[in-house]
Amino acid sequence: MEKKNIDWANLGFGYIQTDYRFVSNYKNGAWDDGILTEDANVVINECAGVLQYAQTVFEGMKAYTTVDGRIVTFRPDLNGERLEQSAARLEMPIFPKDKFVEAVVKTIKANEAYVPPYGSGATLYVRPYMFGSNPVIGVKPADEYQFRILTTPVGPYFKGGVKPLTIRVSDFDRAAPNGTGHIKAGLNYAMSLHAIVDAHKQGYDENMYLDAKTRTKVEETGGANFLFVTKDGKVVTPKSDSILPSITRRSLVQVAREYLGLEAEEREVYLDELKDFAECGLCGTAAVISPVGKVVDHGKEICFPSGMTEMGPVTRKLYETLTGIQMGTIKAPEGWIVEIK
Ligand code: PLP
Ligand code: COI
Repeated sequence: MEKKNIDWANLGFGYIQTDYRFVSNYKNGAWDDGILTEDANVVINECAGVLQYAQTVFEGMKAYTTVDGRIVTFRPDLNGERLEQSAARLEMPIFPKDKFVEAVVKTIKANEAYVPPYGSGATLYVRPYMFGSNPVIGVKPADEYQFRILTTPVGPYFKGGVKPLTIRVSDFDRAAPNGTGHIKAGLNYAMSLHAIVDAHKQGYDENMYLDAKTRTKVEETGGANFLFVTKDGKVVTPKSDSILPSITRRSLVQVAREYLGLEAEEREVYLDELKDFAECGLCGTAAVISPVGKVVDHGKEICFPSGMTEMGPVTRKLYETLTGIQMGTIKAPEGWIVEIK
């Protein structure tokens, strides 16, 4: 298979249309078998549930080329599980986890020519998503749905690669207590659009959202979980019912404990404690681990000792171990890597 002629090393995080996408429809209470199609357009009724009441959920994952030239993906079963949970919360039918993994593998395989080569710094981003497709005008769930998987080759999520980020504490909230912050629903991202445009206008890379109830605890950013390192080398990640249970974060906690021999703790993290941490990073499929150099809380700067020039030492070890596992240079825990054959 010949790779596409793409300048892999200079890709940003944008959409590039690839050859195939997976499409399955849900009608009369059942999913069809699904097909791969070359048609990138979706044609739905003007009154479709997704257009009127934002009934849509999605996932984000990546395909990697390993050091020995295999194509793999990372823990797709967990994305499948999370999509099931997201769908249930929005009264959508479940696309079964096993069928999900099968469809992801098939879609990556069909777009093999777009999986960036090992060492290029790029990956193939995989975006499974599902939406209400039949007309709905009263506020209620749709009866028909479409599940799709698109792929697009991507570079780093944040411009500047691994340059530490500056983040502001947001006055906007992302998720309500008892709301939908813990699922991957499009509506959570619509909520964050004004806040991110405003943050960029003010010169910040991202927003740090606090818990909406007390505004004292760290939640997450618009597209990644936080990870902190204490001055004595312990990894700490915020625990909250209103943040997305990041697969990258859960994996990093295990990597910290089992590969690096570090203590790792998931607990509530107060904004007031930030000044005591040695390192801070954002973690997620798109963000991988992006170091944070500074958090600005209404003019008050909290600068992490790891600084604004490079990743802190523990963050770097976590980054190198996780990406080593994904790229096949470090042995993965059982079941983490699924090969695309
Ligand atoms: N938090 C939010 C709001 C996200 O959009 C993402 C991205 O998927 C994450 C966290 C990270 O989750 P994961 O590591 O599963 O990609
Ligand atoms: C991902 O990391 O997969 C996401 O969905 C986050 C988004 C900001 C691109």
